[in-house]
Amino acid sequence: MLVLQGGPETGPPLPHSESAVTEPFPTKLYGRRKGPKLSAHKEDLRRTLLPRLALRIEHGADPRACFEAADDVWLEIGFGAGEHLLALARANPNVGLIGAEPYEAGVAKLLSHMADDPPPNLRVHEGDARDIITALPDGSLGRVFILFPDPWPKTRHHKRRFVQTAMLDDLARVMKPGAELRFASDDAPYTEWTLERAMAHSAFAWTASGRTDWNVRPPGWPPTRYEAKSLHGPPVYLRFTRT
Ligand SMILES: C[S@@+](CC[C@H](N)C(=O)[O-])C[C@H]1O[C@@H](n2cnc3c(N)ncnc32)[C@H](O)[C@@H]1O
Repeated sequence: MLVLQGGPETGPPLPHSESAVTEPFPTKLYGRRKGPKLSAHKEDLRRTLLPRLALRIEHGADPRACFEAADDVWLEIGFGAGEHLLALARANPNVGLIGAEPYEAGVAKLLSHMADDPPPNLRVHEGDARDIITALPDGSLGRVFILFPDPWPKTRHHKRRFVQTAMLDDLARVMKPGAELRFASDDAPYTEWTLERAMAHSAFAWTASGRTDWNVRPPGWPPTRYEAKSLHGPPVYLRFTRT
């Protein structure tokens, strides 16, 4: 669905890491694209509604051009069933919301939640969020959300985690100064992993000033399905500023 026009096949070179923590950059997408067979209604929405909402962006183009009138653009990575993405789109009509999710059943669930009234300021990429990040120009996003990402608990799978130093480098490039990166997880080791990497990164500053900054979901931050499950422990909410 992503239309990358005029860009190099592999995207622009990664910027030199601004962090003390260096790791290899994973390129493979881990996790599911396909799930159980979709209902006829959801299949129909995928055929009819998804093409209308699909993100179409030229490589390097300002993502505001994807929307009729957007002062700012926010990206949600791995939106699951899309409750958070949809709530933000409805609450912020002046912001363009882009959601990336490779799991077909999650995308179908989002479509079914908004079928009667899809917000004009929402675009969907049914695929890897890294496709979008690679295509975006520098300083083009005002907020990025990584909410309850797959924790990949086994040590040999840590390289599959979405948050990696190289990914923070990429996010730092596409986020404008003062932009916010929001991360939440119910998996304490993944939260520590993220804090360690973000705090070692010169482009990000953790905004917490007290305990309620991270153990209470801030106002204006809609809940998600995985947050409601919180299978691994109490959820933690982290906010980082792009310095
Ligand atoms: C544990 S679920 C959480 C879903 C949702 N954020 C929530 O809180 O309910 C993690 C999601 O991230 C998605 N995901 C994994 N890798 C991704 C990638 N590279 N780009 C976009 N989404 C990804 C998965 O398909 C999955 O739906």
